[in-house]
Amino acid sequence: MAPDQCVIHSGSCSNKPHNVSSPLQQGGNGGFFGNPIGGNDWNVGACINSLQAADACHRLENLLDSSSERDVALPRHVAIIMDGNGRWARRRFLPRLEGHRQGAKAVRRAVEFCRRRGIKVLTLYAFSTENWQRPKSEVSGLMRLLSEYLDSQLEEIHSNDIRFTTIGDVQRLPEPLIAKIEQARRKTAQNKSMTLNIALSYGGRQDILNAAKSLAKAFTEGTIDEDAFTEDALSSFLATAELGDPDLLIRTGGETRISNFLLWQCAYAELYFTPILWPDFDEAALEAALEEFRSRQRRFGKTSEQIEREPGDP
Ligand code: FPP
Repeated sequence: MAPDQCVIHSGSCSNKPHNVSSPLQQGGNGGFFGNPIGGNDWNVGACINSLQAADACHRLENLLDSSSERDVALPRHVAIIMDGNGRWARRRFLPRLEGHRQGAKAVRRAVEFCRRRGIKVLTLYAFSTENWQRPKSEVSGLMRLLSEYLDSQLEEIHSNDIRFTTIGDVQRLPEPLIAKIEQARRKTAQNKSMTLNIALSYGGRQDILNAAKSLAKAFTEGTIDEDAFTEDALSSFLATAELGDPDLLIRTGGETRISNFLLWQCAYAELYFTPILWPDFDEAALEAALEEFRSRQRRFGKTSEQIEREPGDP
């Protein structure tokens, strides 16, 4: 199917996840300010309920998204580990930062492509908790690129009805960048066509740990009992609570590992590894990843026979 033939889901939900004021947005790991464990005065039980309602709504939305209204085999949420910038530069005898600069151009292409193609959520791994260990000059160069990206792209993101969010410990970023991120988040908060979610200072283990601590805190405070320790409850405290889990995880650059990215959330994601270096990852490469996704059968632990029998069967 040609990209412009894709039918985009047009259903709406009165309790859309992004309308829910979640602890994550207010001060959680996935939010911009604060920490989910201490300091914020929110009712954990109510938040779990609210996030579970959001999650249920989100699942309903997924169901609608995968109905006949829409290209059934299109991933709703695509997550990308953008690897290979350094090698791209080295092969051309250029500084690593030039690789990242070309990587930022590939980000623009990917966002535009996914928006046009009807992807609802695009999560990009731009900076991991481990990336802080890189040389200072590379870290500050990356921060500058992120800042320039927002300066140059925010208007376009907004005019394309794209909502901008981040996950990760954004508080560790330089103050001016935090302010720009917050401004981008506020400006685009009501946009509906796609969510561009950038993982910054993000680590999957940290995300799970934060969620587990939040649950434990709720338990010790008596807000929830032991029965509330469910997968859904823990998911509701992850940074991606209101975005849903990725359907497709792409890693460019030839490595075949997840590198601490969305560890819990990728339990059932289709994994797609390509040797293409991120700066070279263009529309055709993205389309090939979608094509591969389309060819996979997602069984979620069931048998092929069950999956093939399911639609419309009594
Ligand atoms: C991994 O490649 C890439 C990163 C750690 C940074 C990703 C950043 C960008 C794509 C640019 C800015 C981002 C946005 C959202 C505007 P690597 O450096 O590890 O590559 P290598 O493995 O070839 O050395």
